[in-house]
Amino acid sequence: CGIVAYIGQREAYPVVLKGLKRLEYRGYDSAGVAIINNGLQVYKRKDKVAALEEYVAGKDMRSHIAIGHTRWATHGEPCDRNAHPHKSGDGKLAMIHNGIIENYVQLKQELLKKGHEFTSDTDTEVLLHFIEEIKKQNQCSLEEALRIALKRVVGAYVIVLLDEDNPDTLIAARKGSPLVIGVGKGEHFLASDASPIIEYTKEVVYVNDYEIAIIKADELILKNISNERQTPYVQKLDLELAAIEKGGYDHFMLKEIFEQPQTIFDSLRGRLDAKNGTLTMGGMREYGEALQNAKRIVIVACGTSWHAGLVAEYMIEELCRIPVEVEYASEFRYRNPVIGEGDVIIAVSQSGETADTLVAIESAKEKGAIILGVCNVVGSSIARLSHAGAYTHAGPEIGVASTKAFTAQLAVLCLIGLKLAEDKGTITQQRFQHLLDELDQIPDKVATALKLDDQVKKIADKYKDARDFLYLGRGYNFPVALEGALKLKEISYIHAEGYPAAEMKHGPIALVDENLPVVIVATKDSYYEKVVSNIQEIKARKGKVIAVVTEGDTTIPPMADDVIFVPAADELVAPIISVIPLQLLAYHIGVLKGFDVDKPRNLAKSVTVE
Ligand code: G6P
Repeated sequence: CGIVAYIGQREAYPVVLKGLKRLEYRGYDSAGVAIINNGLQVYKRKDKVAALEEYVAGKDMRSHIAIGHTRWATHGEPCDRNAHPHKSGDGKLAMIHNGIIENYVQLKQELLKKGHEFTSDTDTEVLLHFIEEIKKQNQCSLEEALRIALKRVVGAYVIVLLDEDNPDTLIAARKGSPLVIGVGKGEHFLASDASPIIEYTKEVVYVNDYEIAIIKADELILKNISNERQTPYVQKLDLELAAIEKGGYDHFMLKEIFEQPQTIFDSLRGRLDAKNGTLTMGGMREYGEALQNAKRIVIVACGTSWHAGLVAEYMIEELCRIPVEVEYASEFRYRNPVIGEGDVIIAVSQSGETADTLVAIESAKEKGAIILGVCNVVGSSIARLSHAGAYTHAGPEIGVASTKAFTAQLAVLCLIGLKLAEDKGTITQQRFQHLLDELDQIPDKVATALKLDDQVKKIADKYKDARDFLYLGRGYNFPVALEGALKLKEISYIHAEGYPAAEMKHGPIALVDENLPVVIVATKDSYYEKVVSNIQEIKARKGKVIAVVTEGDTTIPPMADDVIFVPAADELVAPIISVIPLQLLAYHIGVLKGFDVDKPRNLAKSVTVE
């Protein structure tokens, strides 16, 4: 979900509406706003922010205070009733919430006994009524009631409260879900991330867990849950507005795909110096020794970031000879994993806010593990919780299907592996230098791969009506196959499976017939000959083969139905290039089928609930 709020001299509704549009990638099944204009007014609608805008058009929206929300449903189906903001029983308070209140059933039962009535199925409305009930019983201020309520709440939240009786104050609180406050001149902006804020101010405060903020136009008070004042730490954002706009492209996703030569370059900048044969990882320096002594490394992540982790497993094991496991963060956390003092956990996350990943590292940290964060969003929760790490510097990623964040993750994870191998002495000077050179050339090779766009679009048109797709790859290209399949699923709603090419014969081969397109990543690497055999197995069963091969390959093209040539690269870094045509294929199929590729149904960019 995305939250936005404003207090100050401006008209608040337009600021909040624009902010909601910028945050829409975080959730878009319903949207709503609350203002104070002749008392508290709440407007909310199922569907995208545009539906809310239409609904509100023509209404008197004047107000210098407003809260807004764009939802990704957890409790209760997407509908007008379940959209935020929610109102208290007496209609005087409105609240927006991002997160999950886990003990809401129990709280609801208590409140029902006390006569509360609910108009929605959400946990949010329960929390608001709970706060209202405490306020009434204790005859205390809203701030005090909130503090008492939060002590009983289990779960994650960012909430913002608007009170009809205090129209010059917003009250917000955070635990587990992100909240940024923009500090302007006589005005404040609140949002789930900085994107709605940067066009107004670059001075921001990241609210910490268990903090409550009391915000007026010209005053920001932060307190901890024990009511002690905290000094807000004002940071300057290093972000330009252009970075979060489409800049001439039809979709954010396409813009982000095409940004990759630059974003990969940015992820290497200041770290890789191939000419002088050096590699500097400033954010890891302090933990260098601990990393070298690690007996094992566990990579935790979700979604696309998990795929980057799989590539890193191959890289780090090969380069550093340290055993690596890659875990879905959600599974890792809840099976009481064996973690010892000195184990190293690498948390990979674009947003740095994914709740599954965040909780996984919280518990590992408690058990004495060293946490390395590989995040894209500077100042995000995972980055802050980590002992050390490296930002991926891909810039804001708005398209829900991750593209440029993935390739930046691969680049940074490769740097981490190389640095560790250098420190441990598990790599020869020659191979080290070779891989530095290979990384150095990646941005140019990715630019070359992007020239395939027109060709890939034609292939997309040819296969867009297929019901299923199979994606295959081996070794370093196996996770690329998984990622290709995920991209297609996410934005074209075509069922797609990624598989290790050799494993195909143990199951998915049963699906192969003349209607099944099989995308096979078969660049020149140590598995090449074997992959050629796998292609023959598919052709023998009349499957349609779309092969991604290395420029100059003459063996596979005669066997394949469609061939995509990508620049040659060392197998360790090849995934950064071979994934490019798969991103483009998914993009074009999604667009050709008429779907909103930037906001695929049911998905959210940043999932801040477990
Ligand atoms: C969501 C997104 C995916 C993303 C995953 C992990 O499910 O839709 O695109 O890969 O979360 O996100 P993270 O921000 O932790 O990389």
